[in-house]
Amino acid sequence: MNQAIINQLIEEIEGKSLEESLSIVAKAFPGGVRFSSAFGQEDQVITDAIFRHHVDVEVFTLDTGRLFKETYELIDQTRARYKQPIKVYYPKAERVEAMVNEKGMNSFYESVENRKQCCFIRKVEPLKRALAGAKVWVTGLRADQSENRQNFQLLEWDEGNQVIKFNPILLWSYEEMLDYLKQYKVPYNKLHDQGYISIGCAPCTRAIEPGEHPRAGRWYWEASQKECGLHEVKTVAAS
Ligand code: ADX
Ligand code: SF4
Repeated sequence: MNQAIINQLIEEIEGKSLEESLSIVAKAFPGGVRFSSAFGQEDQVITDAIFRHHVDVEVFTLDTGRLFKETYELIDQTRARYKQPIKVYYPKAERVEAMVNEKGMNSFYESVENRKQCCFIRKVEPLKRALAGAKVWVTGLRADQSENRQNFQLLEWDEGNQVIKFNPILLWSYEEMLDYLKQYKVPYNKLHDQGYISIGCAPCTRAIEPGEHPRAGRWYWEASQKECGLHEVKTVAAS
């Protein structure tokens, strides 16, 4: 049943602009569409389209508690610019306390398992709460970002979260995204001017050198797939 709805939406948004596509999906699920913003460049494009065109999509972010100060500044700049609500979700305090008391402040550097545990507690579990009751989850994923992300679809069923996942700028190039930000003077993270491209938590992100992969600065000490668990296909989270 969901696939039929997804196919119909894919047909309807074919050839449409970003704001038109968002509006079509929002009208199909009134009050049921939520956009998760990490305040990256992709996310700022979508936030601008939603807020400037007053599309019925709730915007939220997951504050892991370990973000850069520049990201926190951007959150407030974005609130000030659009004067529309951005809901902030936090990890469960008792889970963070248990992890930190057992393993220390920066356990994520010690093993991939520890890193995934931290991402789960600080991002994946809060995402589950943020999406509870939602019909559609909008993300800022772009296929160009990684090999894994080339497998994603514009609209797809997310079994783990039981929502339709909508990646409206999946097929945009990096340049198209920058052009949009420039054209509409959208606020962006100042770290982008200092060699950062993909920005996550402060202890887990570094600037990249020219020629390096755009996600090379994420979990830079790991040779893993460089995903935090939010977007792993068919992820079913443990409790
Ligand atoms: S991650 O999985 O490596 O952390 P990335 O930073 O590329 O993801 O962001 C991809 C998309 O995941 C964003 O466009 C956003 O929709 C969602 N996302 C990632 N981190 C967060 C966050 N902290 N809060 C809300 N959404 C997020
Ligand atoms: Fe923890 Fe690093 Fe994942 Fe942030 S990116 S949740 S600090 S492991």
